[in-house]
Amino acid sequence: ILDDLRLRCATPLPLLRHVADAMAADMRAGLAVDGAGELKMIPSYVYSLPTGDETGLFYALDLGGTNFRVLRVQLGGKDRRVIDSESEQVSIPKEIMHGTTEELFNFIAARLSNFVAKEGGNFRLQKGRKREIGFTFSFPVKQTSIDSGILIKWTKGFAVSGTAGRDVVACLNAAMERQGLDMLVSALVNDTVGTLAGAHYWDEDVMVAVILGTGTNACYIEKNDFIPKLLHLGPVTGNTIINTEWGAFSDGLPLTEFDRDMDAESINPGEQIFEKTISGMYLGEIVRRVLAKMAQEHDLFGHSFADKLAQPFVLRTPHLCAMQQDRSNDLGEVELILRDVIGVKESSLAERRAIVDVSDCIVKRGGRLAGAGIAGILQKMESDSNGQVLGRRTAVAMDGGLYENYPQYRSYMTEAMVELFGPQDSEHVVVEHTKDGSGIGAALLAAANSKYAAQSS
Ligand code: BG6
Ligand code: GLC
Repeated sequence: ILDDLRLRCATPLPLLRHVADAMAADMRAGLAVDGAGELKMIPSYVYSLPTGDETGLFYALDLGGTNFRVLRVQLGGKDRRVIDSESEQVSIPKEIMHGTTEELFNFIAARLSNFVAKEGGNFRLQKGRKREIGFTFSFPVKQTSIDSGILIKWTKGFAVSGTAGRDVVACLNAAMERQGLDMLVSALVNDTVGTLAGAHYWDEDVMVAVILGTGTNACYIEKNDFIPKLLHLGPVTGNTIINTEWGAFSDGLPLTEFDRDMDAESINPGEQIFEKTISGMYLGEIVRRVLAKMAQEHDLFGHSFADKLAQPFVLRTPHLCAMQQDRSNDLGEVELILRDVIGVKESSLAERRAIVDVSDCIVKRGGRLAGAGIAGILQKMESDSNGQVLGRRTAVAMDGGLYENYPQYRSYMTEAMVELFGPQDSEHVVVEHTKDGSGIGAALLAAANSKYAAQSS
């Protein structure tokens, strides 16, 4: 099984090249006509990035990663002065993820209200203004303006009833009203867009942002005249951030029976195949499925494994990561995880080694495909700019628990980019970790799109 898995998950250079080329081609298709390719290529209505001169108190909400976050920041203007910032986070209870729209937005508004009540210290609202919010909502949304957008569908295990097809800002406004909170949403952004805005604030070479966490996605700065589907709006100049929603990509991916079975049993079969192959929510589950087959058909663990191994999602990506960091001779950490997580009472060293090999195989495939995806985006930007992307320093802002915490994944990703671009060009591509950047990025975008902007200028 392991040999076969290695073969089927292999990502040699020609395959990576195909993925990068197909990603670039799909981007062009999605920019031309909605629905023409797998990538939605959603215009974000962010036409200009924060300049550093923004001032005042702004709030941000961040929904869609492992945690729900609320944040406030006091911007001092003049050369990117952040006077103070504070945040709080909670994980979203399962029943809320599977509940109703009202329950979800009530939960958000209640946390926000609680947080606003603790405002003090360096935070000061300008007279005559309402508190403004940048709302990071990390799901596919068809933006209708900078401060409104319709949820296309849930991803990443969220299955809240009644939200798809509705404006999520209107849902939030209604919940805030129920809560007696009088605040204004000035920007609605995807987490990739928030991350790009946050990272670009400090480094103007940031052109792309990628999330590798529970889910995965990427956005980048596109020239408006390369977005044919916007041409009907009249002559367009300048740039827009495009949310690719690359999680939906699937062309040429090396998939196995384990991926297909996991997809078929998921709450969104046939969708988000790239996400299901490379992101944190799924890597552990793919490995669990391989181990279950090894146990059933080839007596892995003898009879010492419990029914736990049959439980979907019991083995999580952080477990794979912990097992891969085990450098001890007897793989003691691997043994502990096998015992505590999947109920294996006894395992031989050879079995533990095999499990680390299975994890490595799945993580290597994921990391290398993520690298190919990034290469595809840069490749497209490069060919539309006559060499202005790889010929100079270009930064890719990165966030998400998978990238942050999994060193092997990170190095497989970088390795693939170096293979694709060659050592010289890849030196110009700087990958920067922008921790929690989307929160501050959303607050900055709320400031840049403040409802009071005309008043202050
Ligand atoms: C956080 C960002 O740091 O990373 C979120 O603030 C983003 O906007 C998240 O969604 C993704 O990571 P994870 O691992 O929590 O899914
Ligand atoms: C999922 C969402 C996308 C988000 C990504 C990372 O793919 O559809 O909007 O950006 O996860 O959180």
